[in-house]
Amino acid sequence: LASGPLRGRHVIVTSGPTHEPIDPVRYIANRSSGAQGTALAGALAALGARVSFVTGPASVPPPPGVDVIAVETACEMLAAVQGALPADAAVFAAAVADWRMAEARAQKLKKAGNGALPVLQFAENPDILATVAQMDHGRPPLVIGFAAETENVIAHATAKRARKGCDWIVANDVSPATGIMGGSDNTVTLISDTGPEPWPSLSKTEVARRLAARIAEALA
Ligand code: C5P
Repeated sequence: LASGPLRGRHVIVTSGPTHEPIDPVRYIANRSSGAQGTALAGALAALGARVSFVTGPASVPPPPGVDVIAVETACEMLAAVQGALPADAAVFAAAVADWRMAEARAQKLKKAGNGALPVLQFAENPDILATVAQMDHGRPPLVIGFAAETENVIAHATAKRARKGCDWIVANDVSPATGIMGGSDNTVTLISDTGPEPWPSLSKTEVARRLAARIAEALA
């Protein structure tokens, strides 16, 4: 694992969902399996990179040959990414929860008995990709985000690339009919400063291999 085109390079990969606690026994989550981020981290390690794999509670095991930094929440994920810097590249494949509880309850939320419903107050989570992409000092030279969309995929992803300030966006259509969320295949479009480049439908492993090869090319 110490040879290959990414030898001597450090790449941070975020992956999986985040869990945002409501109280000690409940949390808010999403359907990300972590499969694409895991495949990508494995492919980067296979090219010789030192990989800091910052993962939420994923349903697939981490790949061999990476430094696993396990987190639960978006705030923990941001801190872990900041702690792993500096890096030559950072790829943000995690499905980060947009909101957390403004104040998670210290004790289990109980039913009122009179039918009164609890009111949950939310706070916005930090945008980890945008935070790193817009760093004034120590920004990784290559910052890559994902854009999971269900309509107008290219337009939304192109706007997202500009808004977040990242170099590349890997856009994909995650409409339920595509079976991409939780599935083994992915159909992506790589959007860079030269515009959108549609890729054929591939396994997530092959998407990861090709993306890792492109990262190696860009850092060469
Ligand atoms: O805005 P949206 O969630 O669609 O953006 C997706 C991209 O931004 C992904 O690369 C994801 O990992 C990243 N992201 C992040 N922190 C957030 C929200 C999204 O790093 N709080």
